[in-house]
Amino acid sequence: MTARVLDGAAVAAAIRSEAAPAVAAFTARAGRPPGLGIVLVGDDPASEIYVRGKLKSAAEVGLRADLDRLPATASLSEVLAVVERLNRSDVHDGILVQSPLPSALGADAEQRVFDAMNPAKDVDCFHPANVGRLVQNRAVLAPCTPAGVVELLERSNVTIAGARAVVIGRSDIVGKPMALLLLHRNATVTICHSRTVNLPQVAAEADILVAALGRPAFVTRAFIKPGAAVVDIGTTQVRDRALVERLFAPGSKRHEAFLRRGSLVIGDVHPEVAEVAGALSPVPGGVGPLTIAMLLKNTVRAAEARAGWAGEAGGAGGERL
Ligand code: GUN
Repeated sequence: MTARVLDGAAVAAAIRSEAAPAVAAFTARAGRPPGLGIVLVGDDPASEIYVRGKLKSAAEVGLRADLDRLPATASLSEVLAVVERLNRSDVHDGILVQSPLPSALGADAEQRVFDAMNPAKDVDCFHPANVGRLVQNRAVLAPCTPAGVVELLERSNVTIAGARAVVIGRSDIVGKPMALLLLHRNATVTICHSRTVNLPQVAAEADILVAALGRPAFVTRAFIKPGAAVVDIGTTQVRDRALVERLFAPGSKRHEAFLRRGSLVIGDVHPEVAEVAGALSPVPGGVGPLTIAMLLKNTVRAAEARAGWAGEAGGAGGERL
C-alpha cells in the first residue's frame, strides 16, 4: 500500500482563501483590518522562520501584523510590558508570543507570559481560561496546530467520529489540545507519552494516529494499523548524516536536499510508514502551513468576537471548534 497524501499545503491554501473575504468584510465594517501583535524574544533560527511566515501570510490576506522584537537579554518584566501594551491596544485583536522563550527567562516564563495575556486576544489558546473553555468544548479560539490537524482530517474525508485515535505526545501546546479536539468530535482517544508501556502496540490500535513527540522517524511501521490515517506534527532539524542516510536513499530528493543544506527537517514518522498507512500527512508540506492558516483564521475570529460580531454569516467564526 502507498498511503494517500493528506495535503496540508492545499488545505492551508483553502483556509487562507476563505480568510481573505472575512478580513475584507471586517475591514469594511470596522474601518480597520483585524490586527495581530507578534512578540519574538531572542534569535532562535526556527522561530525567525516561523515568524517570517506568519507575517507574510497575514499580509497576503490583508491582516495587520506587527512584530515586537526583544533581544535574548530582555527581562521577563520587559516581555510582560509588551504584552500589557498589546492587551490595551485598540488595533490589535490577537497576540502571539512566539514559543520557546529564551531559557534565561526562567522555566515558568512562558506560563507567566500566557497568564498575563488578555484571554480575548489569545490566538494560541494558551491562557488558562481558554484552556478551560477548550476542555469544556466552548472555546472561541482553538490552538492553531491541533485545529489545523482537525481541518486537514475533515477536509480530507477522514472520519473522526467513532474512530480510535491515538496521540503520541502530551504537550500543552499540541498533544493535550489535539486529544481534546478529537474527543469533542467523538473519537475514542488515547494519549501516549514517554512512560507508556507497549507504545507500538497501543499506537497500532489507532484508526487515526497523531505523532507529536519531536523525535525524528520514531514512529515506524510497527506502530501502524494497516490503512490508518497518520498525521506527523514533528519537525526536528537533523544534521546527523548517518541518520539521514538510514532514512533516505542516496539520490532521493530528500537526500539531495540534505547534501545541499547540511541539515534536513525530519518528522516523527518514519518514511516506511507510507507503505502501511492508508493516509499520511508528510513533513514537510503537511501540518506546518496549516498552523499559520489557523492563526489567520483565529485572528479574524478574535477581531469579530471583540467587536461583538462573532458567528455572523460570512465571518471566520460560527462553526464549532
Ligand atoms: N512555536 C511553535 N509553534 C508555535 C505556536 O503555534 N504558537 C506559538 N506562540 N509559538 C510557537
